[in-house]
Amino acid sequence: MKPARLIMTLFTAVTLSVPLASTASAAPETDGHHHTLRWAAPKGFHIGSAVAGGGHHEEQPYPDPFTSDRPYRRVLAAEFSSVSPENQMKWEYIHPERNRYNFGTADAIVRFAKQNRQVVRGHTLLWHSQNPEWLEQGKFTADELRAILREHIKTVVGRYAGRIQQWDVANEIFTDSGALRTTENIWIRELGPGIVADAFRWAHQADPKAKLFFNDYNVESVNAKSDAYYALIKDLRAAGVPVHGFSAQGHLSLDYGFPDDLERNLKRFASLGLETAMTEVDVRMTLPASGVPTEAQLRQQADYYQRMLTACLNVRTCRSFTIWGFTDKYSWVPVFFQGQGAATVMWNDYTRKPAYHALRSTLAGRR
Ligand code: XIL
Repeated sequence: MKPARLIMTLFTAVTLSVPLASTASAAPETDGHHHTLRWAAPKGFHIGSAVAGGGHHEEQPYPDPFTSDRPYRRVLAAEFSSVSPENQMKWEYIHPERNRYNFGTADAIVRFAKQNRQVVRGHTLLWHSQNPEWLEQGKFTADELRAILREHIKTVVGRYAGRIQQWDVANEIFTDSGALRTTENIWIRELGPGIVADAFRWAHQADPKAKLFFNDYNVESVNAKSDAYYALIKDLRAAGVPVHGFSAQGHLSLDYGFPDDLERNLKRFASLGLETAMTEVDVRMTLPASGVPTEAQLRQQADYYQRMLTACLNVRTCRSFTIWGFTDKYSWVPVFFQGQGAATVMWNDYTRKPAYHALRSTLAGRR
């Protein structure tokens, strides 16, 4: 069983028994475009969301959100100027068999983005997780594996060339202690660390306009992991490898303090000549027995969101801020973190939390 599935099996019972925190009112608040996040944002600053679908959603008692939930699509179009496929461009979705790609939903997301004047963040090409069985279990030689990765990157990046603003080329390649994931990550394990540079080169050849990123969690602060990225990216750029950006996912929890040095950390990457971004922002919390967050929790959550956004706005090269889903209805958090939830900026019925208003007023303050 894949780790993600295992975790899901363990937590599903818990998830389903948690009361759905929600408020009474019904219709999504798309009350005129000038009350939205994208309208409030300063020119050239992209405010994004993950597009829910695939992954944990497949184990939940609802149909695929992006393709089936019309109010969801309405809010997604109205509020955001950037979208990121939450799972639909990951290997296990887009390349389910060795000789078969499945571009359907990814194509639909890219089309949706164009129709709604949104940019797209591609996610992701080289990762240790959510890889298809044929790849992880296949007995390939090093040469074969290298050819498989090259072909995948050329095919996927090439297909959307000119339509992806930023690609998370490499995702989560370091552990929290700053060591390369040499056992979990099939590419690094089988082909050595040099494959990471090749992935960036191939992606750049396939789409010279896309900005190519390293992306990870627990890199909001200056710490062993972000230091490892700093050193690696410096080396790669000195060697002429087309690395253009560094992004922090921003999965925070109220159970931990806010990473006060986020701005300083992003700035040191900006000083390397890199673009920076916040790519998967959410703020989870341990829920009270009622399943409904307290007023104090909601206030503190709004504060965390606002501080992440402010840090990004204060960094010259940070022009993209993406939340990992906008409604608790579809959040990955209760599925992956036992007892936690309410991590997004809207309730299940799309009514807005204090965190939403904090983001919007912070954006509006910078117009
Ligand atoms: C998560 C998705 O939200 C879930 O639907 C899926 O089941 C597992 O992956 N870091 C990442 C994202 O880079 O791709 C992960 O997304 C969350 C952590």
